[in-house]
Amino acid sequence: MRLLTAAVATLTLALGAQFANAAPIEIKFSHVVAENTPKGKMATRFKELVEQRLPGKVSVSVFPNSQLFGDDKVLEAMLLGDVQMAAPSLSKFQKYTPALQIFDLPFLFKDMASVDRFQQSPEGQGLLDSLRKKGYVGLGYLHNGMKQMSANSPLRVPADAAGKKFRIQTSDVLQAQFEAIDAVPLKKPFSEVFTLMQTKAIDGSENPWSNIYSKKFHEVQSYITETNHGVLDYMIVTSAEFWNGLDDDVRAEVKKSLDEAVAYGNQIAAEQAAADRQAVIDSGRTEVIEITDEERQKWVDAMKPVWSKFSDQIGEDLIQAALKANEG
Ligand code: LMR
Repeated sequence: MRLLTAAVATLTLALGAQFANAAPIEIKFSHVVAENTPKGKMATRFKELVEQRLPGKVSVSVFPNSQLFGDDKVLEAMLLGDVQMAAPSLSKFQKYTPALQIFDLPFLFKDMASVDRFQQSPEGQGLLDSLRKKGYVGLGYLHNGMKQMSANSPLRVPADAAGKKFRIQTSDVLQAQFEAIDAVPLKKPFSEVFTLMQTKAIDGSENPWSNIYSKKFHEVQSYITETNHGVLDYMIVTSAEFWNGLDDDVRAEVKKSLDEAVAYGNQIAAEQAAADRQAVIDSGRTEVIEITDEERQKWVDAMKPVWSKFSDQIGEDLIQAALKANEG
């Protein structure tokens, strides 16, 4: 009996020591943009909050600038456990959930407040769950901002883009959007955009201000037209296996930290867009073109027919819900 008690005590001690020395759970957070962007800052804030609240239990390593994975590989790598979190743009989920293509429809959302209202609506929140059957958990939306069109020649009306090559994200809606103005869309990774512009392998692209400024696209594009024709936002995702494997209390703290970091990212996104737009103008490296209402209407007329091509895949109800969000 005494022997058994001693054995149990030794085992308890050993397990206790092992637990005390257990390596923290590591969350690798991979993204493709620079650190001085809404997504970069959100990821850094998330790391700080998690490590403050779960010291020694969870550590977060943030890999910006496509250092670990580009968006084409990151979701597959997540299912293999090589990365635990990422926040790809909503344009990169079409092969997982066609309905998410709604965010790429040109001129659908009036402004970022409308995007936010739609994301917070029951329909928008439902889309976060749409990846579950593929093994992912959508943890929230993060804003970047509205996209602007850039090129090596001035783009005032859609005809100015005809025949020009534009880099796009991996999205069929964006492909159709550029085809609708007789341009040539090329799906390419974000990490290649600067070089493609610099070597003139492409003529132009579309991006929000923070991506343009942080990646210096304005230094290799002579004109940026303020079109605000679409949105570039993100979904923060993790794998269901990783997420469900966390202890309840740990998962709750991680989620709380993420929600706070996302709220911070969303709060600074508009300020960052305004500041980066101004910094691009002040740099004098490119010309920012403000179009008239009449010119803008020409872009709307040319691009809006794209909606009907995708309304079956996306769902007409969802499109109506997005339009309702424009009403305030
Ligand atoms: C892009 O590929 O242009 C964007 O998705 C990059 C990003 O994450 O903002």
